[in-house]
Amino acid sequence: MYFKKGVKRAPVWYNSSTFMPDKKKKLKYKFPQGFLWGTATSAHQIEGGNENNWTEWERQAGHIADGSLSGRACNSWELYKEDIRLVKELHNNAYRFSLEWSRIEPRPGHFDTDALRRYRDLARECRRSGIEPIVTLYHWTQPLWFARQGGWLNKQSPLWFRQYVGRVAKELGRDVTLWCTINEPLIYSYNSYFQGKWPPQAHSFWQFKKVLRNLAKAHKLAYFVLHDASSDCRVGIAKNNQLFESYLDKWFNKLVVTFVSRFWNHSFLNKIQDTLDFIGLNYYFHSVVYVSLRGYVVMNENKKVSDMGWEIFPRGIYETLTELKRYRLPVYILENGLADSHDEQRVDFIQEHLRCVHQAIKEGVDVRGYCHWSLLDNFEWADGFEPKFGLYKVNFKTFERTPRPSAGVYAEIAQNNGF
Ligand code: BGC
Repeated sequence: MYFKKGVKRAPVWYNSSTFMPDKKKKLKYKFPQGFLWGTATSAHQIEGGNENNWTEWERQAGHIADGSLSGRACNSWELYKEDIRLVKELHNNAYRFSLEWSRIEPRPGHFDTDALRRYRDLARECRRSGIEPIVTLYHWTQPLWFARQGGWLNKQSPLWFRQYVGRVAKELGRDVTLWCTINEPLIYSYNSYFQGKWPPQAHSFWQFKKVLRNLAKAHKLAYFVLHDASSDCRVGIAKNNQLFESYLDKWFNKLVVTFVSRFWNHSFLNKIQDTLDFIGLNYYFHSVVYVSLRGYVVMNENKKVSDMGWEIFPRGIYETLTELKRYRLPVYILENGLADSHDEQRVDFIQEHLRCVHQAIKEGVDVRGYCHWSLLDNFEWADGFEPKFGLYKVNFKTFERTPRPSAGVYAEIAQNNGF
């Protein structure tokens, strides 16, 4: 194992010249100066050793598709400096990571100063390496005390969140400028409270809506707390937006799809738009929806799909970006990626999506950055370790990180600020 505690030397696969760009290459797609190139991760998916509502749920048989537990995940809690080295190796100038609330506030009102210090180190280490930290405050996992009191259904939940954010801002406010309050509020509340797929596995439209309301309140409170702590911070949200298309050219089908699209893509943003300095876009999906009086079915053509069966549809990122123009806010793409264990589709995926991003920029969308999901293979929620989203492959026994060929291509794009 390369990463025994206390081993200071660089791991053998790391070499600062691993990805050397071809300087003479002519660029067809040049991105704006200062564009942020990054990758994204989340605490529970990579850190390991967490005790939160998700770990509790993982232990109950049958919840995780491949039977795994997040366990030590990628061991990034210990190996965070190595992860930053990888970010550097990718010639990236940004890194989006999240803070694990359950580590920071394991008991209500009791803050763990070691955990806070460790996250501050992570942000500082980024800065020292010329990497802009983009910090997410809530990426779906909760302290046990919070979950036991009903989580986001409890009307106190936004206030509890405010208290946590206040303490984080005090500790990290000087080192972090870009904050993302909540990751994908709709995906989270839909899967947890309406579809019954994730903890606490509810099937209630009213709970789904209530959670969204509390998340919106929590975002607003966090916005003010962060701005009070540091006047030059920029606060946004990571919003999963999708391109919805109607399967039939019939008014009823089209009407429903327009309604769904407005609800999914815009209702939450509309609610919080006065407290946004930027919008973070997470784009993965395109959904062609067939609607009948009996319900709806997704009818994508699926000519190209990822390992998870998700259709690869680059035009969707262009459409979702242009839809965001109406908010007149800067946009950072905070997630876009695919599960591709053989790394056969990732290069095309990245380049095709970036072509569409470039087109949106040309047409006036103020896109300031792109974070690929993900830096590392990681624990993919209810799917366990099977899906491989990483530019770096992870050996989950030794925690060795190995770049996939697509990592080299992404590094070259980042270094050249285009391709
Ligand atoms: C989430 C990530 C997740 C990714 C791939 C996003 O919706 O924010 O945590 O790993 O999708 O499923």
